[in-house]
Amino acid sequence: MKILVIGATGTIGSAVADSLAARHEVVRAARRGPVSVDMADAETIDALLAAVGEVDAVVCCAASGGLTPLNTLSDNDFWTGLDGKLIGQVNLVRRAIAHVRDSGSVTLTSGRFAEPVPGSSLGYLVDAGLEAFVHAAATEMPRGIRLNTVSPGWVRETLLGLGMDPAAGTPVADVAQVYVDAVEGTAHGRTLDVGAA
Ligand SMILES: NC(=O)c1ccc[n+]([C@@H]2O[C@H](COP(=O)([O-])OP(=O)(O)OC[C@H]3O[C@@H](n4cnc5c(N)ncnc54)[C@H](OP(=O)(O)O)[C@@H]3O)[C@@H](O)[C@H]2O)c1
Repeated sequence: MKILVIGATGTIGSAVADSLAARHEVVRAARRGPVSVDMADAETIDALLAAVGEVDAVVCCAASGGLTPLNTLSDNDFWTGLDGKLIGQVNLVRRAIAHVRDSGSVTLTSGRFAEPVPGSSLGYLVDAGLEAFVHAAATEMPRGIRLNTVSPGWVRETLLGLGMDPAAGTPVADVAQVYVDAVEGTAHGRTLDVGAA
């Protein structure tokens, strides 16, 4: 398969791209690097898809909802989370349909928390929106194209990078395997949970 991975330089995206590259041709995109896209800018999504051409699968592990308490969340933080992760991935699905081959797939990234904590409301909004969108939009995917979202809890390597206790985190290799299964398997319209929230 030819697979476009967006966010391919990140903690999750690089593991996903490396795992898929063992068996498939992988095109790696991010804001910085030779194949660039900004998920908050739909024109750059169009340009990326046009440059890459037909693919069998698109995987997005880019952007984030942030973890900022409401009283310090600036308009810029708020719209960056919404435009990059929520609306960006919705825009990606709308555009990718025309570039994904019959029986291909689109896999997005949402996420989850064990329970609400201060600073998590934007993440809850973004992730709930994505998961509801995937659930409903799956009914409209043409030509056997499958649509799913992977919902990771904390990743072990991310916790280590933040200087936090990694015990509750899932190794990124295990998270990446869920994306591989989404691409190579039969799931459709699903939120694929991985790891403890
Ligand atoms: N890591 C965790 O513990 C965890 C847990 C739950 C959910 N998640 C979710 O998983 C996703 C990936 O997380 P991660 O930890 O792998 O993030 P990360 O390490 O920060 O990597 C993010 C990747 O996306 C790219 N990117 C960021 N903003 C972008 C944009 N607007 N347009 C295009 N590319 C962009 C980055 O490269 P550039 O900066 O060059 O663009 C990088 O390749 C996020 O949605 C995050 O919320 C992560």
